[in-house]
Amino acid sequence: MDRIRIFGGEPLKGIIPISGAKNAALPILVASLLTDQPLTVHNIPRLADVRRLLQLLGNHGVDYTILGRRSGQDTDSGLSVTLQAKDIIDTCAPYEFVSKMRASFWVIAPLLARFGQARVSMPGGCAIGTRPVDQLLMALSAMGASIEVDQGYVIASAPRGLHGAPIVFSKLTVGGTHIALMAASLAQGVTIIENAAREPEIVDLAACLSKMGARIQGAGTSRIEIEGVSSLGRAEHRIISDRIEAGTYAMAVAMTEGDVLLRGACGAHLEKVLHILTQTGVSIQATPEGIHVSRKGVPLKPITRLMTEPFPGFPTDLQAQFMALMTMANGPSCIHETIFESRFMHVQELIRLGAKVNLSGDVAYIEGNSKLVGAPVMATDLRASASLVIAGLMAMGETIIHRVYHLDRGFEALEKKLGACGARIERLTE
Ligand code: UD1
Repeated sequence: MDRIRIFGGEPLKGIIPISGAKNAALPILVASLLTDQPLTVHNIPRLADVRRLLQLLGNHGVDYTILGRRSGQDTDSGLSVTLQAKDIIDTCAPYEFVSKMRASFWVIAPLLARFGQARVSMPGGCAIGTRPVDQLLMALSAMGASIEVDQGYVIASAPRGLHGAPIVFSKLTVGGTHIALMAASLAQGVTIIENAAREPEIVDLAACLSKMGARIQGAGTSRIEIEGVSSLGRAEHRIISDRIEAGTYAMAVAMTEGDVLLRGACGAHLEKVLHILTQTGVSIQATPEGIHVSRKGVPLKPITRLMTEPFPGFPTDLQAQFMALMTMANGPSCIHETIFESRFMHVQELIRLGAKVNLSGDVAYIEGNSKLVGAPVMATDLRASASLVIAGLMAMGETIIHRVYHLDRGFEALEKKLGACGARIERLTE
């Protein structure tokens, strides 16, 4: 199994190109199932999760072609893929695909909306809490689907198609909003989603669906109105840049007292994060090319209380990385995780590197002023692994991160991007 070795202490300097957003690419690739016409998607990140989803779509019968490089594209441009779900031969998403990645569960919505049936394994994905799907199933039931759970599979059917309906989420859910958008696009009549998630990835999915012919209003607000259409058509769409990747590297730069342009990063998607980083003493400048992040000779200030929240709040997907950063702040910080239970698995590993963190339920108290020292550590989930990289970049001596496959799910060419900015980082393959 691959490992990553880091020798800490080098400031990051240079340019880091930000990839397309994994969390926008996944639902948009799933949306290809909604039509028999081709969907071309650009700026797809080269990630294990994307490969897995393409495999699952292929298993349903979706044809896809990865397009070659075009003039004007540099080597770190994302992938362009054309997908066509013309002949769907199987509406079952089996356990071996869905158990590895939660987002595969979302195929349930387009399969049900277009073919009136779907049999989809209950999801897996990152080990962060129980992660139920009750809200997702509630949305599909509201649109007329009958739902049964049998032997670990959700069996959904709507032989006469889905109908528009009011959908009121009792819990804000990104996945729930994605699947409601997809299903409602092909349902008969009008669907109104209340308490919808407002993440930029929702807006990106809605933009792609609209290009396919869907009638959607209000994406990016908590009330979305969708007027169903009988079929969707061909479209071409470019994925937005990855705000979580950009935020992760911004924290890595802050950690190492570096100076980096995050090329292609979108300031509007990271307002809260950049605001918090500025409060810690990091200098941030949004430029037409991206976000310029630096910290030079300025002590890192603690944040006495930070809460993870749905967008536009501070994202849970950057909580672990921010905790790594706060271990070096010149005072105590406190982070309250409000989105997922059990999302503190990185804490034990950070402690192995010398961090001082105490947990009390869903609140972490970070002492600050830690002297991090390299050690072997274990990646436990996708974002937690990124926090170990950030800590390793400032830990004295050698840090070896095991179970790197977690990182490969969500960070494209991480060691190449950091290495190009001066980090002493390499992948060890066996
Ligand atoms: C997505 C992101 C993930 C991010 C999360 C929250 C992708 C591929 N993943 O995950 O990186 O951390 O949003 O920003 O885009 N919940 C229920 N019942 C449900 C659905 C969700 O109780 O039916 C709860 C979850 O357990 C969690 C909260 O709602 O506590 C938010 O989950 P949700 O927004 O659905 O996360 P995902 O879409 O799975």
